[in-house]
Amino acid sequence: MSSMTRRNFFATIGAAGALALAGCNGSGQPAESTDDTQTTDEASYTLVKEGVLTNVAELGFAPFEYIDDEGTTVGFDVDLSNAIAEKMGLTCEWLPNQAFDTLVPTIKQGGKADISIAGMTISDERLEQVDFSDPYLNSNQGIVAAAGSDLNSESLNAEGMQVACQTGTTGDEWISENLPNATKVPLADVTAALMGISTGLYNAMVIDLPVAQNMIAESFSDLEVVEEIPTGEQYGIAVSKDNPGLLAAINDALAAIEEDGTMDEIKQKWFGTTEI
Ligand code: ARG
Repeated sequence: MSSMTRRNFFATIGAAGALALAGCNGSGQPAESTDDTQTTDEASYTLVKEGVLTNVAELGFAPFEYIDDEGTTVGFDVDLSNAIAEKMGLTCEWLPNQAFDTLVPTIKQGGKADISIAGMTISDERLEQVDFSDPYLNSNQGIVAAAGSDLNSESLNAEGMQVACQTGTTGDEWISENLPNATKVPLADVTAALMGISTGLYNAMVIDLPVAQNMIAESFSDLEVVEEIPTGEQYGIAVSKDNPGLLAAINDALAAIEEDGTMDEIKQKWFGTTEI
């Protein structure tokens, strides 16, 4: 997709949108075309709220989505979804914080949020429930423990070891599969889990590596990543299976953002590098 023009962009949406249910339109696209060679300039997708791309996420996942000191929702995913919305001629809104394991069901059920952009890994299991956009970032897992604790995936796989995770995440699944002898402690909140390691309640946590690194650098200097786990995950944006036109429009917007340098700018801003 090296040179997608605005015309191609809308034509693609039109074609994909034709698959959507009749009567499903309601985007913020200007209906200004008089060009008969195109199906329509109006993207055929539904939105919960006219002209708005409504996001739902768990908002304790810095630097992807979190609430800053002023109470504003910020992060890599926030900038990315703003950029996507802008390409689509929409504005962007975030619903209040929701537990991570409720996000896929919320998108599947529909009516509340259009998308979930939440540092969410594309997985076969989730693909049974929702669609995902093209991948937008690569990620791995990391094991976090007290600095200098000498723990690793081998020593943690033992009776009496308390290993925390965020409920319903890929870290949660990784513990089940790889640390069968440890006690898994699923928690809704990442900060609570890390705090629990600081205070000695838990031995370790398994969590997305970029988040582990960010949180340790920002607020947990007493903790460290004791082991990196190369899971090779890819983040994608969850969209309802009933909204294929929206998925197509988001993929087109993502491609445009990759191509015009916006993605690199956002990566640079949040990670200080474009190599992530
Ligand atoms: N990447 C992991 C997963 O998809 C963790 C995502 C957690 N995201 C969040 N906003 N809390 O399972």
